[in-house]
Amino acid sequence: MTRTVFENAIEATGLIKGYGDVKALDGLDLTVEAGTVLGLLGPNGAGKSTTVKILTTLSHPDAGSATVAGHDVLAEPAKVRHAIGVVGQKHGCDLEATGRENLVLQGELYGITGAELRRRVDEALERFGLPGDRQAKTYSGGMQRRLDVALGLLHRPQVLFLDEPTTGLDPEARAQMWGEIERLARDERMTILLTTHYLEEADKLASQLAIVDRGRIVARGTPHELKSELEGDTIHVELAEVDGGAAGALERVSGLADVLLDGRTLRARSRDGGAAIPAVLAALEANGVRAASVTLARPSLDDVYLRYAGRAFEATA
Ligand SMILES: Nc1ncnc2c1ncn2[C@@H]1O[C@H](COP(=O)(O)OP(=O)(O)OP(=O)(O)O)[C@@H](O)[C@H]1O
Ligand SMILES: [Mg+2]
Repeated sequence: MTRTVFENAIEATGLIKGYGDVKALDGLDLTVEAGTVLGLLGPNGAGKSTTVKILTTLSHPDAGSATVAGHDVLAEPAKVRHAIGVVGQKHGCDLEATGRENLVLQGELYGITGAELRRRVDEALERFGLPGDRQAKTYSGGMQRRLDVALGLLHRPQVLFLDEPTTGLDPEARAQMWGEIERLARDERMTILLTTHYLEEADKLASQLAIVDRGRIVARGTPHELKSELEGDTIHVELAEVDGGAAGALERVSGLADVLLDGRTLRARSRDGGAAIPAVLAALEANGVRAASVTLARPSLDDVYLRYAGRAFEATA
């Protein structure tokens, strides 16, 4: 089989999608180079799944255009579907059927038959460690998720969409899934668009990140680039108790930026964190806010995320 090589596996321009009064996508632009793992991050309701649905031809945009693997999602949906694998946010497998039956049906949908189909199904069961003859409903959560991914890969797609592949998995199942995603990227040079709420996951797997908020891309770059954009240090104050006034207490401290309260954690950035700490503690004390501990760190992906999606993060928390 010959594969056409595209510079950009995904190109989306000006995507708009509304559901009643809700603007799920508000002019979303996204380019993903072939062979890249792109992590799409953003708070609940930001528009990640809507983006995945449009790029995988499951939903139509109100405006804008997109190509995937060189095919237009609106004009050539069948070609797009052959070129892609999709693992949705919700389960895609038939829980009443066995793992093997699920895979066979999937292969048949793509016109794979006979010995070739049997070979691919056996290979998939083996690689994903799935007992093929058990009904999928008897699988653990991690096994069901691996079956979803195996289904998405059976026809050997060029571009794989994974919408929250590890949500709800225990740490061991998550690590296994990470290993499989890394293998696909490394050995098969597959282009992967992955949505996730786990920043550690994005940091580990994605060579490119895009943060989406309110239907638009608000930040884009490698994990390293995004972290480097945040100059200075991050001050984390763990409060002794939840205190809504904590962020306001830091208003008068000079040299602080991006002050954010997230539960009991108060974060702020400072060009020189070491010098700012005494002033931060004094301001908290003057306002009757009790601090349990203070730490100083280089910016993490957490800080990047909060910087760009912080308001929405607080609003949805
Ligand atoms: N079928 C639908 N009908 C009505 N509203 C919808 C529909 N699908 C999505 N929305 C709304 O569009 C917005 C974007 O939803 P979307 O599912 O794309 O977010 P998301 O980033 O995937 O969120 P999550 O992290 O919770 O999965 C939300 O406000 C959501 O409620
Ligand atoms: Mg979603």
